[in-house]
Amino acid sequence: MARVLVAATGGVAAIKVPHLLRLLRAAGHEVRVLATPRALEFVTPLSLAVAAGGEVATEEAWFRPDGRALHIELARFADVVLVAPATADALAKAALGLADDLLSATLLAGAKRVAWAPAMNQAMWLAPQTQAHVERLKALGHAVFGPAYGPLAAVGEGEGWGRMLEPEELVERLHAFLTPKDLQGLRLLVSAGPTREYLDPVRFLSNPSSGRMGYAVAEAARDRGAEVVLVTGPTCLPDPWGVEVVRVESALEMRDRLRERYPWAQGVVMAAAVADYRPAEVLAEKEPKVEAERTLRLVPNPDILKELGQEKGDKVLVGFAMETGEGLERAKGKLWRKNLDLIVLNWVNREGVGFGSPENEVVLLLKDGRILELPRMSKRQVADRILDFVKEFWQA
Ligand code: CTP
Repeated sequence: MARVLVAATGGVAAIKVPHLLRLLRAAGHEVRVLATPRALEFVTPLSLAVAAGGEVATEEAWFRPDGRALHIELARFADVVLVAPATADALAKAALGLADDLLSATLLAGAKRVAWAPAMNQAMWLAPQTQAHVERLKALGHAVFGPAYGPLAAVGEGEGWGRMLEPEELVERLHAFLTPKDLQGLRLLVSAGPTREYLDPVRFLSNPSSGRMGYAVAEAARDRGAEVVLVTGPTCLPDPWGVEVVRVESALEMRDRLRERYPWAQGVVMAAAVADYRPAEVLAEKEPKVEAERTLRLVPNPDILKELGQEKGDKVLVGFAMETGEGLERAKGKLWRKNLDLIVLNWVNREGVGFGSPENEVVLLLKDGRILELPRMSKRQVADRILDFVKEFWQA
């Protein structure tokens, strides 16, 4: 976790900074907060101090009575400075290297990493001056998160580009910015979620997969610098930013989309819960119910992963095995049958893990015979452990 200096400049989005500070602390970061005089027209020093759990660095406190200078202290403290909300003026000063206020002086005094969350009127954001400053800052290694499109603050302005990203997304972006890019250059194809096998336009066979495990893999790989395509069955999860998302419904559709992208990919993580069967017939019209027993004829779906395994080449292939009993031998069988590098064994019927839950408890079985039993952890942590092995095989 990092030491984060949140610097608020003058924009109405400054009212979201206390929430941002709380989220950063809840995520385990150590925070300090700086507010410009204009920021303090929107948010009070007290609400910032309470949310940060410490005093607010303000213009008046720049030079201390004991001779210490706050800009030096803050620049040394911060692993990263997150300027949120960031005005066009703050961006411009930093791009030019001005240092006539506490924030710009802190940035110039050797802040290690800097991220910006711009918030302004669309015309100001799109102005060539602002865009040139943003390019300059990016060239210096700064990150720029957003802005988002949406309703703009000033009365009568309607919608546009210029809203600050929501605090939740800023925390995610910051996490990605701070994550070492050890998967840079990897092209990863990830599948997630259930499939739906339609009987008629309103009825289908499916399973309770939430998609969380596959999405966690896609997000963790993105944060580590991989280029990611996520092929997902229907889920309630929002599209992860920075990932190309391809939405599908049936197993056949999932197979087609995965096969299209397969030549591009250097690795595949197949976390989707693909339905093994589909109805032999799909009716074009909704069939009225009849008061009698019915038999449904099913045909097998292709085993997508097995097919991919037959054309493996030097790609890294990861599968999942959903088992109800001990499952180790069955999972090993799948590892070999499908020509995988790694299979992730998890259980359907254990309390608090698996389908829909934020946590998982898995065993990793590797093709070289290694078996790693992982303790219960978040799906995101499981994703990182899987990716550690993807990296190992990719670089081998
Ligand atoms: N899989 C697939 N295509 C299918 C079924 C499964 O690509 N038609 C993939 C899953 O995404 C998973 C792995 O194969 O990565 C194992 O899935 P699982 O359902 O545990 O195994 P099956 O091979 O379907 O075997 P069984 O259902 O008999 O346990």
